[in-house]
Amino acid sequence: MEEFVREKKEIPYIKVGNKFKAEFVSMTHDGYAVARIKGLMPKGELKEAFPVFVDLALPKEAGIIELTELKASYAKGKILKLFNDKKVDYRVEPACPNFYDCGGCQLMHMNYDAQLSFKKTMLKETLRKIGGFDDIVLNKIRGAENPNYYRNKVQVPFQLQKGKTVCGFFKSNTHIVSPITTCLIQSDEMTEIVKFIRNLCNEFRIKGYDELNNSGDIRHVLVKESTITGEIMVVFVMTRENVAHMDELYAKLVKRHPKIVSIIENINSQVTNTILGEKQKCVFGKNYIVDKLNGFSFKIGAKSFYQVNHDQTEVLYNLVKKVGKFDKEDILVDAYCGIGTIGITLANDVKEIYAVEIVEEAIKNAKENAKLNNISNIHFECNKAEVQLKKWLDKGVKPTAIVVDPPRKGCDLSLLKTIIELQIQKLVYVSCDPATLARDLKTLVNGGYEISSITPVDMFPQTTHVETVVLLSHKSNNSKVNVNLNFDNEKGKKLIKKVVEDVDSRKEPEGASYPEIKEYILNKYNVKVSSLNIAQIKTKYGIIERECYNKPKSENSRQPNCTKEKEEMIVDALKHFKMI
Ligand SMILES: C[S@@+](CC[C@H](N)C(=O)[O-])C[C@H]1O[C@@H](n2cnc3c(N)ncnc32)[C@H](O)[C@@H]1O
Repeated sequence: MEEFVREKKEIPYIKVGNKFKAEFVSMTHDGYAVARIKGLMPKGELKEAFPVFVDLALPKEAGIIELTELKASYAKGKILKLFNDKKVDYRVEPACPNFYDCGGCQLMHMNYDAQLSFKKTMLKETLRKIGGFDDIVLNKIRGAENPNYYRNKVQVPFQLQKGKTVCGFFKSNTHIVSPITTCLIQSDEMTEIVKFIRNLCNEFRIKGYDELNNSGDIRHVLVKESTITGEIMVVFVMTRENVAHMDELYAKLVKRHPKIVSIIENINSQVTNTILGEKQKCVFGKNYIVDKLNGFSFKIGAKSFYQVNHDQTEVLYNLVKKVGKFDKEDILVDAYCGIGTIGITLANDVKEIYAVEIVEEAIKNAKENAKLNNISNIHFECNKAEVQLKKWLDKGVKPTAIVVDPPRKGCDLSLLKTIIELQIQKLVYVSCDPATLARDLKTLVNGGYEISSITPVDMFPQTTHVETVVLLSHKSNNSKVNVNLNFDNEKGKKLIKKVVEDVDSRKEPEGASYPEIKEYILNKYNVKVSSLNIAQIKTKYGIIERECYNKPKSENSRQPNCTKEKEEMIVDALKHFKMI
């Protein structure tokens, strides 16, 4: 007994403020180095390899860390001292003086080659963990020629701090704005525009937003720029209309920065994290700017999505064209088409294109863009991709190929179901989120698709994000099995029934399945959560739940509530899978 007590005393407690010697063994998808420490939990339980996520450290390094946050199954820590002899050779001095304070970039302390290899590894791991693709081979990641000054769009929050209007970027994991001085991933002109607007706000007493009280005048400034045509658009997101002195501010701004050809005033009075409000008007110049990609011109509106890295977008679209090997007989669907960039780029290679996008302004731009580039074989619709694809089928459209380029939450399950039912021969999936890509690929592969190639593209140097282009083809179209594609015969009907059943077995209206959520939590926190817990948290966050999980069997039945710790892990998983 005595022995045991003595031994226990020598083992440090795992608690906030305590310091540990640590070796970093791996890196999370969001750029934290992982250390595993031995210690006692506050109630005395011994942990042999308790995970600590540490910002700014790198795998294979070692040093002294201090715990800053403690949860039941993991801690967060900060690095106090890095051992010099353990510093890895791919560590570099971040070129940006704000790197340690600003949450915009996460990898600037790694050289660019190391960033690329981190992204490829992270993608491969995610495909393995979430998709179950164990031995998948990825093509070489397409890195950027210039990993700095690449962003053509910035969105900067404005806040009131100690009575002054400040603007910048949110500090990592906070809603506190770190004032902008310089930014190495956007053009100097965009940074200067934003700083000039901040100075004018203080001159005219235009107040930055106060999130707690939903008060103030100005919430965000967005700047969009074309490095090819030189045109710049500035969008002011205001809490209300008619804020005093805005006209004077606009006049001074365009005088100082004559490349500004468009100023949009957008009104967002809601308590929300969404940046843009519904209502907006053009207060100077035109309501779009023009950029060029691979020789095509594109009008871009304030609300329209446009890829942020011009040069890498050309690389991305060329890759889609190359792997897709489209031909003049192809009837192509461009799902999630934005302002029509992918469809227009491919229009001369195929017979007909059907393109769909949910944002009205983007579709308006897309239609104008087709005209601007003399493209007449592309049809645009403003709708949800999952709804519109069915409408086209009802009208007799018979797609032979489809490109999907969804937002981070991935494809809607019903869209995947329709694709599977149709056995569209060729599918190019462009993804900006490895987790939802892995989930959707799993569904597609279960539905009879085969992955032919996977190529990561670095659209976002210095950050942990990665874009991926995947080519898939339907097995029945590759193999010699003779299945009538009209599904009029029994064999075809049976195959489709099975595929639909397979997909249905996922039984999730949207997002990750219960096993996927559980696996994510087990992998990250080494903790098991129950389906009931997941259902409780999904319900709490307004995600519609299936009857069987969240409803008590009888009115009187009592169900154990999810603990706070588990709730945090489930919320993390739901965020990871873009379900909240
Ligand atoms: C990643 S962007 C890709 C846009 C375009 N392909 C490009 O390369 O610029 C995703 C687009 O999908 C749109 N979107 C989001 N949900 C959608 C849905 N359910 N149906 C159709 N479009 C949707 C967004 O507005 C956005 O324009």
